[in-house]
Amino acid sequence: MRRVLIKELFSTPEKFFEKEIIVKGWVRSLRNSKSFSFIVVNDGSSFKDLQIIAGEGLSNYSEITAMRTGFAVSLKGKIVPSQGKQPLEMQAVSVEIVGEAPEDYPLQKKATSLEFLREVAHVRGRSNTISNVLRVRHHLAMATHQFFHERGFFYAHTPIITASDCEGAGELFRVSTLPVNDAPKDDKGAPDFKKDYFGTETFLAVSGQLEAEALALSLGAVYTFGPTFRSENSHTSRHLAEFWMIEPEVAFADLDDMADLAADYIKYLINWALEKCPDEIDFFNLRIQKGLKDTLEHVRSSSFQRVTYTEAIEILKKSGKKFDFPVEWGADLQTEHERFLTEEHYKAPVIVTDYPKEIKSFYMKENSDGKTVRAMDVLVPGVGEIIGGSQREDDLEVLKRKMKEKGLKEEDYWWYLDLRRFGGCPHAGFGLGFERAVMYITGVQNIRDAIPFPRFPGNANF
Ligand code: 4AD
Ligand code: MG
Repeated sequence: MRRVLIKELFSTPEKFFEKEIIVKGWVRSLRNSKSFSFIVVNDGSSFKDLQIIAGEGLSNYSEITAMRTGFAVSLKGKIVPSQGKQPLEMQAVSVEIVGEAPEDYPLQKKATSLEFLREVAHVRGRSNTISNVLRVRHHLAMATHQFFHERGFFYAHTPIITASDCEGAGELFRVSTLPVNDAPKDDKGAPDFKKDYFGTETFLAVSGQLEAEALALSLGAVYTFGPTFRSENSHTSRHLAEFWMIEPEVAFADLDDMADLAADYIKYLINWALEKCPDEIDFFNLRIQKGLKDTLEHVRSSSFQRVTYTEAIEILKKSGKKFDFPVEWGADLQTEHERFLTEEHYKAPVIVTDYPKEIKSFYMKENSDGKTVRAMDVLVPGVGEIIGGSQREDDLEVLKRKMKEKGLKEEDYWWYLDLRRFGGCPHAGFGLGFERAVMYITGVQNIRDAIPFPRFPGNANF
């Protein structure tokens, strides 16, 4: 007799009626009466629980009635149509206790807050909200690979340990094997990284872009999907110290190509989630964000708005809204500005392009106005920035000048500069923050609920 997943049971109940099967999972709740025990079990395969009737005739009936929420069980029994709300239930032939759980098991039946669940992240994957998020997260990862694979992109692995700060924001985690207290010193008295493991100063990557550019200029179109690390000191609901990023990079492509690719990709993710995770999306629509489903359905069939940074500044200035941060040409858009544009002005995803060069990274292609660069940010309601990308500077001399302006040393980027000398060509790419995509599609408000074990300032628990 084989073990059946509850997901399978509910998707094709007719296959199982009147048959005896095995189900394994964790007790969600237990109600005992004199002659039978009513057990609700979830096995993680789906949002749905299986109801089991265990009669007093079972040899270990007294043990069964003494079970509690959280027990691991193996159930054998016959599947029958149910009189209740569920289409089916199991009449148990045997109930085997596989693992016990104490009375103070943290996930009791009563509703718990997301804040509390973060403190028990090792078991929160068994709660409705988080298990739904984790399943959707899985499906969005599958959708990502399928999307890029269908379009001829190659999945490329870029290094996690790196000597360069791609974004130039200085938000790096050091990787070192030098002793913390008595590191060897150079002649200036600073730690001598020549004596460190890699013979140079190294960090965890904030982005795989620079290497992805090298690979795009070899394979034509690639994408990365890996963890990235930023030591930014932000305690916001949209920032993590360790997050996953998808970075497509394409040779012989420009910013317009990237704007189209970004919109297609986001719509593909939405479609996939609506198709593969209907129960989860219904749950989020009901319990986490009212109207989520309508919004997602609307977005997948509408075109993304496009606006330049300069136009966006005009819109913000004319809005008459009082912002905490002043709106001024040259200043970066703050979250409140981004959210106004996407949530109130356009009420739709919007792609902002051509930002002032001072507030963007060194590698972005300069426009002929000498003031702006071919950058884009994709903003979505509820989240704000979900994607950042650009066309890359492919003119060697301009790139060198820009690096100088930003205080970067040519010798640190010699191989990156070579890419402009060895058959350089227009190329472009972007990065999508995976957890932000999970937030957008599930409606969860805090990024710490969009990843199983979040890392943020002051916390590396679990
Ligand atoms: O805009 P960012 O910094 O762009 C880059 O890293 C480029 N190298 C990407 C590229 O062109 N290949 O980051 C890209 C996205 C952001 O739009 C955001 O969604 C996400 O990564 N992101 C974060 N997500 C969670 N926590 C953080 N601390 C994040 N920082 C950026
Ligand atoms: Mg950005």
